[in-house]
Amino acid sequence: MAIHPIVPAETNAPTTAAPVPELAAAPAQSAPTPALFSLAGTVTIITGGGRGLGQALAKGIAQAGGSIACIDVLPEPTNAEGEWDEVVRLAGEVGGVATYHVCDITDEALMEETFGKIEGTTGAVVRGVIACAGVQQMVPAVEYPMDGFRRIMEIKSVKLGLAPGVRPSRPSPS
Ligand SMILES: NC(=O)c1ccc[n+]([C@@H]2O[C@H](COP(=O)([O-])OP(=O)(O)OC[C@H]3O[C@@H](n4cnc5c(N)ncnc54)[C@H](O)[C@@H]3O)[C@@H](O)[C@H]2O)c1
Repeated sequence: MAIHPIVPAETNAPTTAAPVPELAAAPAQSAPTPALFSLAGTVTIITGGGRGLGQALAKGIAQAGGSIACIDVLPEPTNAEGEWDEVVRLAGEVGGVATYHVCDITDEALMEETFGKIEGTTGAVVRGVIACAGVQQMVPAVEYPMDGFRRIMEIKSVKLGLAPGVRPSRPSPS
């Protein structure tokens, strides 16, 4: 087993000594904290992003410098109190974009199409999916219909990013 001597960085140690990676400053040491969490140049897909938690998280993505693509079955994103305008404004402030796409995430063909549109229009790398799509069914437990349960589970599975249409691309190595 090779044993590398621990050489203090400041000494004039012999250059033949094997480099010890731990001696190098960690990149995080010199980077400002916001830069460590920056999503600049990326786009995050948010299912169920037409309202509620999805919209709230869209603001968080924008504040981290990322672009957002919200997917929902609602014909328009909720904007009664300027919620969607705020998402668009925040994204624009950091040079990103917020786009909205009407799409049922259980519709595979539509998802493929929507995903293609997102990749084509944002010009940024899709780096993540936030799964917020969900449905609630207020039904007495003893009367719970199996097809309703299946629908809930289908939306929840798709929202985990398992659908063929949701394939976050990896950034190409630079
Ligand atoms: N709000 C809470 O306190 C809470 C707590 C625990 C879990 N959750 C879960 O977090 C998620 C978001 O919660 P929320 O309060 O924002 O709910 P919400 O009902 O306000 O938002 C869910 C969104 O998902 C959309 N949606 C439903 N089916 C869809 C489909 N097939 N394709 C695309 N979009 C679809 C709806 O149109 C809606 O806009 C849900 O899955 C919910 O079950 C919420």
